[in-house]
Amino acid sequence: MAEVQWSQLQAAPRDELSARTFGLLAGIIYKHSRICLGPDKHALLANRLRGRIRECGLADFDEYHGLLDSSAGGTEIDVLIDLVSTNHTNFFREIEHFRFLSTKVLPEVIASCRANGKALRLWSAAASSGEEPYTMALVVAEFLRTQAPLDWQIHASDISRRMLATATRGIYSQKALDAVPPGLLRRYFERGIGVQAGSCRVQASIRARVLFEHINLFQPHYPLGLEQQVIFCRNVMIYFDEPSRIEALQKITRHLAPGGYLVIGYSESILGLPHGLEPVTQGIFRKA
Ligand SMILES: C[S@@+](CC[C@H](N)C(=O)[O-])C[C@H]1O[C@@H](n2cnc3c(N)ncnc32)[C@H](O)[C@@H]1O
Repeated sequence: MAEVQWSQLQAAPRDELSARTFGLLAGIIYKHSRICLGPDKHALLANRLRGRIRECGLADFDEYHGLLDSSAGGTEIDVLIDLVSTNHTNFFREIEHFRFLSTKVLPEVIASCRANGKALRLWSAAASSGEEPYTMALVVAEFLRTQAPLDWQIHASDISRRMLATATRGIYSQKALDAVPPGLLRRYFERGIGVQAGSCRVQASIRARVLFEHINLFQPHYPLGLEQQVIFCRNVMIYFDEPSRIEALQKITRHLAPGGYLVIGYSESILGLPHGLEPVTQGIFRKA
């Protein structure tokens, strides 16, 4: 009989996530990200954590909670947030926003930048794997292609370090690029060869315009200027409760220049929340 390698055997995590431990874990997630996991997310959290518990060599959810609570838990919280956050995104997602950016917002804010000798600053505040800020960059680059040069930069941030690493690489599968018009694909992407065949990389000239950094929307200060002319904060506030939405909105709009635009997701609403912005069109608001 083969000798049993006891050191290689790990107890399978006990399958049960008790209501109490679910509550404790959901509390930690809320405290760090304001992502709200109601009791309906009990099974989802349990499923997403099982593999991680095994990877950490822990026995069950209670031990995992103990790890998060310990002095070694700091970096594990990032992993936990990664496991529970929804990162779905696409190039040209909610395309009307990019049409509006190109036809209404950019002509106005770029004219104002030129008149005041200022640089153009845009921010993607929940950038996920980068498709949103790169789409913004494509739209700006196209707009400026036939115009006098202008200093412009896009800040792109997210709470997920894993997503930011993917975004910084700027490499996407052919399938992920389906929504990118062929002319833009030719102009702003490089086709992979060899082992990279089937994927494309955002060209260096565009990548250089997008600065990725880790920002939790609930950290005390954001390391970026107060004069953003355009802020996309789309499809993230839906995961927050109302007090957190109010707080995030106030912090984000502080970074909007007068005359600047805030863009939120199609399915999001800030109706009834204090924000002091003028509604412009679906999901788009302007700071007076
Ligand atoms: C569904 S994606 C939205 C991506 C993109 N904005 C879009 O609309 O396609 C939501 C992103 O919000 C990020 N997120 C969640 N809580 C956050 C927080 N407290 N601060 C910053 N980003 C957060 C998640 O990591 C995730 O990448």
